[in-house]
Amino acid sequence: HPLRGLNTFGFEAYAQCFTRIESKDDVISLHQYLDEHRVPLLLIGGGSNLVLGPKVPGIVAQVLIAEMALEELAADRVRVTLGAGEAWHASIERLLDQGIYGLENLALIPGCVGAAPVQNIGAYGVEVKDRIEAVEVYDWQQRRFYWLDNAECRFAYRDSIFKHHADRYLITRVRFLLSRLPNCVLSYKPLREAIEPGREHNPRAIFNAVCRIRRAKLPDPDLLGNAGSFFKNPIVSAAQYEALKQKYPDMVAYPEGSAFKLAAGWLIDRRGWKGYRRDGVGVHEHQALVLVNHGDGCRQQIETLAQQIRNDVMEQFGVQLEVEPRFYP
Ligand code: EPU
Repeated sequence: HPLRGLNTFGFEAYAQCFTRIESKDDVISLHQYLDEHRVPLLLIGGGSNLVLGPKVPGIVAQVLIAEMALEELAADRVRVTLGAGEAWHASIERLLDQGIYGLENLALIPGCVGAAPVQNIGAYGVEVKDRIEAVEVYDWQQRRFYWLDNAECRFAYRDSIFKHHADRYLITRVRFLLSRLPNCVLSYKPLREAIEPGREHNPRAIFNAVCRIRRAKLPDPDLLGNAGSFFKNPIVSAAQYEALKQKYPDMVAYPEGSAFKLAAGWLIDRRGWKGYRRDGVGVHEHQALVLVNHGDGCRQQIETLAQQIRNDVMEQFGVQLEVEPRFYP
């Protein structure tokens, strides 16, 4: 089964076996199949955080569970339950249209609802963990469905329990706590600046501004294959930050507890990688943190390029870059 349309890098890849999961019954059936066949399983949502090799062994299951349920709570709070297969951006827009706020800073992130908790997607001052009440999983070990509350998901920067136990859980639904009262998060400076001065700060304006910024900086995967930020922003000690800042006064960094989070895009850009091209892959011309597939690239080429960039950043700044998307197999 071809997977080219199921990974946003647009890599040519084939699954030995392919199926779709549309309901809990489908999950149970799949588990019975796996009991009999004992083959590896890859769960795929929008495929937007995935680097696929050309041959994917075993079975690939696309999660397409649909649902949007609303429950009005006290004090204008709304509990929203979304199926894992719902498209992320379209869901935010539907909620906004119904006057339900809280996810507007996360507009235009590619992928499905079920993938959002895995890497705790975050952008423009909000992380999805700030809005999640609980995540419903199917536990392959215990053979049952249950909810993990926010604390049990062990969310951190681009991290969660799901990233560390990819083989244990299948996410079926996500429950969010949102609000009918606007509570605008404008902590991210470029977002504040993108909202025209004097104009009202409302969730719709934030949604539109986030879409504008993302469209200007980040490539549309339908036009140019990519998986968003390819590296995490590295966290370094205050001492290392101070030493680097002395040497590179314009380096971009944000305090993170007693440590500092460096803008990896700045480090890579500073080394002149922006717009670099090699074979079928390269570094995006407007955002050095994003690696792209120019059409005929493959996982091997991306791996080589990523390693070159990591070595270069290590040599120059003494900083270790960590890859963000998942490699499979
Ligand atoms: N910068 C450069 N050159 C570049 C890229 C960035 O100098 O090529 C500088 C920028 O000028 C800015 C700073 O680095 O001062 C930060 O850049 P930006 O605001 O674009 O954000 P980022 O740190 O590169 C992170 C997330 C993005 C998220 C944005 C906005 C990570 C790994 N990435 O990127 O998330 O959209 O902040 O909040 O944390 C993703 O995870 O896939 C993703 C796109």
